[in-house]
Amino acid sequence: MKILVTGGAGYIGSHTCVELLNAGYEIVVLDNFYNSCAESLNRIKELTGKDFKFYECDIRDRDGLEKIFAENNIDAVIHFAGLKAVGESVQKPLEYYENNVGGTITLCEAMRDAGCKKIVFSSSATVYGMNNPSPLKETMQIGGTTNPYGTTKYMIELILQDLYVSDKDWSITILRYFNPIGAHESGRIGENPNGIPNNLMPYVTQVAVGKLSCLSVFGDDYDTHDGTGVRDYIHVVDLALGHIKAVEKVASCTGVNIYNLGTGNGYSVLDIVKAVEKASGVKVNYKIVPRRPGDLATCYSDPSKAKAELGWVAERGIEKMCEDSWRWQKNNPKGY
Ligand code: NAD
Ligand code: WQD
Repeated sequence: MKILVTGGAGYIGSHTCVELLNAGYEIVVLDNFYNSCAESLNRIKELTGKDFKFYECDIRDRDGLEKIFAENNIDAVIHFAGLKAVGESVQKPLEYYENNVGGTITLCEAMRDAGCKKIVFSSSATVYGMNNPSPLKETMQIGGTTNPYGTTKYMIELILQDLYVSDKDWSITILRYFNPIGAHESGRIGENPNGIPNNLMPYVTQVAVGKLSCLSVFGDDYDTHDGTGVRDYIHVVDLALGHIKAVEKVASCTGVNIYNLGTGNGYSVLDIVKAVEKASGVKVNYKIVPRRPGDLATCYSDPSKAKAELGWVAERGIEKMCEDSWRWQKNNPKGY
């Protein structure tokens, strides 16, 4: 099978490319390098010993997409490309809707015209909004998102559902990721945030490596075991392996299938700080500051549907996640 990977130079995309190549898939990668660089592609080749075609292209570029589909016999698309910074999306809503929603529509149009109607889409736990209790299940009502980024994911899920209603040849798998952390265990590919990280793990490892001075812990008065926010952290390699199962699923049926990809376990901010200290042997300096607007106390998955229907379970625990995040950070203190 030949898979087009949009956003394949990014954090989750690069790890998924490695697992796809290792599993024997042929891949074609598309990225506009808005939030990534060509070095991640070199490292995918280095880790797998395999080559693949790359197109520097934007998912909003209809002609560029047409050319990719014309030049390659693509069987299915894994669609990672998108903007993902929650805070930035509040400042730049039009850019987020245009890139994420507009880009996905253009991609689906190009797919339809090329007769390629199998897509795996990167959604997010954020679509469950503020009103559902954890553990979160795929059957819960989605919406009530609190920022434009989350709303783009919600809107795209609705668009993909409508697409299937209009044409039953489509096979659509929507994956709702929880909190991806960790890196490939070689320490050669990993998360490479631009500027000050928004997410917890890269912030913690950058404090541990001495690049940042102090972690701000957003609130210690939540109703959780130590008062700090609880999340379902998932190793990025487990997440990548979930995409292999999802590709098998889209290849074998039509319809819309939705899966949580999480571990089902919740860890607090301070649990993560302690686990990184253990993995690195370095003390992580932190201070408690007020809550961050829009944050939930607790968010974790019920991952049982992915286990039952895809035969997928996350296997890497919190220690492994922190060891691998730390190895990547320590070996690449300036990123790629
Ligand atoms: P990332 O920023 O590392 O990767 C996204 C890639 O898409 C980047 O390489 C970027 O250059 C590319 N891109 C962005 N807009 C593009 C466009 N218009 N055309 C072509 N390429 C474009 O992010 P990631 O963490 O790997 O996330 C991948 C996907 O998973 C995103 O859709 C994101 O919203 C989703 N997701 C991420 C998380 C997370 O915490 N990392 C959680 C849930 C869902
Ligand atoms: C985790 C915990 C923070 C930073 C976001 C998106 C979500 C998904 C994953 C894409 C929370 C606390 C964080 C810091 C802290 N992305 N924290 N200090 O908010 O669960 O999810 O990324 O789809 O849509 O919203 O992840 O890593 O930002 O925060 O105390 O400097 O760490 O309050 O409890 P979040 P996160």
